[in-house]
Amino acid sequence: MVEFEEIINTRRSIREYQDKDVEDEKILKILKAGMQAPGSRLGAEPWEFIIIKNKETLAKIGEIKPRVANAPVAILLVANIERAFYKTVWQQDMGAACENMLLEAVNLGLGGLWNGVAPEEERMAKIGEIVGIDDITDLKPYSIVTLGYPAEGWENKFMDKFDESRIHYEKY
Ligand SMILES: Cc1cc2nc3c(=O)[nH]c(=O)nc-3n(C[C@H](O)[C@H](O)[C@H](O)COP(=O)(O)O)c2cc1C
Repeated sequence: MVEFEEIINTRRSIREYQDKDVEDEKILKILKAGMQAPGSRLGAEPWEFIIIKNKETLAKIGEIKPRVANAPVAILLVANIERAFYKTVWQQDMGAACENMLLEAVNLGLGGLWNGVAPEEERMAKIGEIVGIDDITDLKPYSIVTLGYPAEGWENKFMDKFDESRIHYEKY
């Protein structure tokens, strides 16, 4: 376990991984972290998750999202609009889950990457097709979280992203 502040401050986008499997217990913890995220309506969150380890599937997705090809595991986040109460804000719901997952990955000594999928419909449809989603009207591929033990030179480490000029008090 890592201190919370350290997790927040050292999380980096890790794009290359060691050739080493991620333990199923860690994957489960990351899924649990995703589902602990705030959602637009308690009990009517749209998120569903597809865990992908099959090398051929990863390679196919990698033709669209290159960083997926060599990851030991990828989790496709899918918004199921039928589950959602507030059906227009699924991208916010899914983003909250995605970030929670990336933070839990750091906590577990892993590296993770947010591979963007939505909102480009062509990309969503192509990736959906690979995993058995033939229609993206109600099942929307949102992002792919790739996970693994960071390759050399890709460690989670602090980078100062603070910028005081972004902060406004009371009025813009
Ligand atoms: C919506 C979104 C989509 C992203 N898509 C990709 C992607 O497709 N490929 C990639 O390498 N990084 C992707 N990233 C990661 C960003 O490039 C990364 O967060 C940014 O460069 C800052 O680096 P850091 O995560 O190490 O702080 C995405 C991040 C977000 C929030």
